[in-house]
Amino acid sequence: MARIMSGVQPTGNLHIGNYLGALVNWVRLQDQYEAYFSIVDLHALTGRPEPAALRHAVREVAIGVLASGVDPERATVFVQSHVPQHTELAWVLTCLTPLGDLNRMTQFKDKSQHQPDNINTGLFTYPVLQTADIVLYRADRVPVGEDQEQHLELARETVRRFNHVYGETFPEPQVVKSSAPRVMGLDGESKMSKSRNNEIGLFETADETMLKLRGAKTDPARLRKTDKGTPEVCNIYSYHGFFTGEVQRAAIATGCRSAQLGCVDCKKLLAQNLEVVKGPIRERAAVLREQPRRLEEILAAGAHRARAEAEKTMVLVRERVGLGAPRS
Ligand code: TRP
Repeated sequence: MARIMSGVQPTGNLHIGNYLGALVNWVRLQDQYEAYFSIVDLHALTGRPEPAALRHAVREVAIGVLASGVDPERATVFVQSHVPQHTELAWVLTCLTPLGDLNRMTQFKDKSQHQPDNINTGLFTYPVLQTADIVLYRADRVPVGEDQEQHLELARETVRRFNHVYGETFPEPQVVKSSAPRVMGLDGESKMSKSRNNEIGLFETADETMLKLRGAKTDPARLRKTDKGTPEVCNIYSYHGFFTGEVQRAAIATGCRSAQLGCVDCKKLLAQNLEVVKGPIRERAAVLREQPRRLEEILAAGAHRARAEAEKTMVLVRERVGLGAPRS
């Protein structure tokens, strides 16, 4: 069975962008592949979170992953820092990565702009650690959103370089595109993200979501309910694309174009459809939150499996690059 590996950062609470961009695919792919899914707390350190907040976020994201339907019996779900081989391999790969390659990474530039007071080296070498995450499990495929494609290209480049210098060791990881590669935030201006405060939280109640939707932008040319709208330019309508069935969606589009359906009603329909997805996840999450020991056990078992596999790779890597005791 081919292998996949993917990671999600524990920064703040999960939102529907994470759900559509990653979690839905993880759930789908866990049946087709041998899957490794990681909560990448070492990556989150690049944002220098409060220690207590980081620990809390790791737990909440793990809960969200499991509540969304990732099955820890089938997939290996683990916290990145519980497997020290990630950092060890990252260093080896860092020494193979030209400065110029990292300099081209657009996410580094974006993040540097976003946190100008904390442009740390980890932010710069972030994609190297990500490559280590992937190749440590010799993964063939990596499900990620389109914003990660540049990092994946770099990972493939690094694999080719490693294999060229030290001999064939890793497969070149291919991207598995997510079905919703880009989910816009409620501001309609940038990708949904916690740091931009434009998210619909995965654990939000229906009321909380409706409150946020009320303030959200729709078709900017539709000022009054009697104005005819253009669904294609409406951010709310784009969400219907993910959560609303085809028949209802067609009715919404028609109602919007003819000004029969107002934006508030359109938002209410969306809130209802969102709740169909979020409701059961929120309930499963609440159950897990009441069972901290069970969560700990699941993550400990995942780390145990991940470490065993990671160590196999590192034995080979250490030997190839000339580290550790020589084999007799
Ligand atoms: N950088 C990814 C993101 O922000 C998260 C990530 C870390 C990841 N390590 C990974 C994704 C390995 C896929 C594989 O979304």
